[in-house]
Amino acid sequence: MCGILGYVGSNNKGVKSVLNGLQHLEYRGYDSAGIAYIEDSKLNIIKETGRISSLVEAVGENHDSNLAIGHTRWATHGIVNKDNAHPHRVGRVTLVHNGIIENYMELKKELQTLGYKFNSKTDSEVACALLDYLLGKTGNINEAVSLFEKKVQGAYALGIIIDGDDNLYAIKKNSPLIIGLGKGENFIASDVPAIVDYTNKYIILEDGDFAKIQSDKVSVYDSKNNIVNRKTRLFEGDALSISKCGYDHFMQKEIYEEPEVIKNTSSAEIPDLSKYNRICIVACGSAMHAGLVGKSLIEKYGNIPVDVEIASEFRYKKLFLDDKTLVIAISQSGETADTLEAVKIAKRYGSDTLGIINVKESSIARETDNVVYTNAGSEIAVATTKAYSAQVEILSKIAYTLAKNEKDSSKLKEIKTYLEDLKSLPIIMQEILDNEEEYKKIAQTIYNQKDIFFIGRGIDYALAMEGSLKLKEISYLHSEAYAAGELKHGTISLVEENTPVIGIVSDKAIADKTISNLKEVDSRGANVIYITTDDIDTNGDFYKTKLVLPQTNPLLQPLVNIIPLQLIAYYVAKYNKCDIDKPRNLAKSVTVE
Ligand code: AGP
Repeated sequence: MCGILGYVGSNNKGVKSVLNGLQHLEYRGYDSAGIAYIEDSKLNIIKETGRISSLVEAVGENHDSNLAIGHTRWATHGIVNKDNAHPHRVGRVTLVHNGIIENYMELKKELQTLGYKFNSKTDSEVACALLDYLLGKTGNINEAVSLFEKKVQGAYALGIIIDGDDNLYAIKKNSPLIIGLGKGENFIASDVPAIVDYTNKYIILEDGDFAKIQSDKVSVYDSKNNIVNRKTRLFEGDALSISKCGYDHFMQKEIYEEPEVIKNTSSAEIPDLSKYNRICIVACGSAMHAGLVGKSLIEKYGNIPVDVEIASEFRYKKLFLDDKTLVIAISQSGETADTLEAVKIAKRYGSDTLGIINVKESSIARETDNVVYTNAGSEIAVATTKAYSAQVEILSKIAYTLAKNEKDSSKLKEIKTYLEDLKSLPIIMQEILDNEEEYKKIAQTIYNQKDIFFIGRGIDYALAMEGSLKLKEISYLHSEAYAAGELKHGTISLVEENTPVIGIVSDKAIADKTISNLKEVDSRGANVIYITTDDIDTNGDFYKTKLVLPQTNPLLQPLVNIIPLQLIAYYVAKYNKCDIDKPRNLAKSVTVE
């Protein structure tokens, strides 16, 4: 899941725009980068390992170029080095690629028999050689591309420059790619934020599309080589939405945006769900964790069975889906390959699909039958926070909507003030945020520990999963989340003097059960951090630190409880001097399997 960008224009801004755009795409992958640009009719290719900043340094200032392509990499094939960095050049073709060519070894062998030699270990260079070969064979780029699409299996968004040709070319299949429409210049990019400094007008390429882009004209051909007209769209966000606004990190900024996000998402409309007798949630990572919170709320108050499936598992397992099962796909980016494929599979089973998505018009949003957008705005930090909370908000709304149709009013009684409580929730969340010093103190007691455990029961276990992932992915410390009752069946053997165990206790009905589990680890010397709500607040000597959070509507309590977990993770990473917004080995959207 790399980031690609291209420029064709008449304003000589090729190099500057591509480097600037790559900086906005760096959250997609950041182990190496490169650029190819035509200047004084000569092709220049510069590649560097590491961040875009090292590429910017290597390229230098004051370049006049009207045709350029660039790439920021998240290695899938071949180690991180300059040879494997993009752009790749073979014969007359120079290209950048985002995606995975699944049959690249087969194609490589064929091309080697034709005399092609390869400098890198990448699938992308094979794609480059194949295009060069087919161009040589057909003498026509459209025909070459049609043959290319027939031969290549996998996912690819390609930006292409051909020797002696002033056009920019692009091909899109199972990997996101847009065309930015400027004045006297046009762009290709993996994502909109990369071009908002130059234009907010863009078109989305469909699978199988091939585009020929000139400074004042864009021609798009579909997979049958028919010229097609793709809808022009406007990007709602602005450059500010993708700046840190004075915060130290995007992650910190995005956590502090949560009260506003909850307000903006509260108007989301939930479609009629009365015909379904079962819900199946498919997602990955934190989105899957949001699904686990949703399962707890929807089953308890909506009284309908909910399965939560890890999308990469869902794709290859035996499924029991029918038209009475609603499949909900949750995704911030809307581009996660496994979740996208899971939606396509669910539709083949005749199940209706609903997307809970943050990025407008993204692939999953366009693939699902229906979509509810989380209005979290652009989320730049790789570790999701505000989008996760907005997903939980939508799921709480689904639970409330179903509960209203439920005959058992006893459950409805518990949540009947949901809509009012949702209105006042941003105030409570702001109070939690203002308590930052408490979370810093907790982070100071655990940031130098090697193992950190999170435990909880029911919905608190689902929150523990997300708290643990947040801490792991940005601080690189080993952390696990456990159902509190499960600990004594093995894992408790890892607990020793001062091992941090963060216990989340917000469900009064089972609070004493989790507290007894906390006492078990306390008695083995653990550093127990007890996070609870003011309707439970038990005094006792089983914890070193206690955090008491305000109790609110049970459907909304997770949105209060998650904030300290996000900020504790943030400060643990900060005290460990980690690259919080771009953790190693990660990328914001996982567009490969
Ligand atoms: C979360 O912080 C991670 N970035 C990752 O687990 C993420 O949630 C997962 O890749 C799913 O991404 P999506 O919501 O864009 O589909």
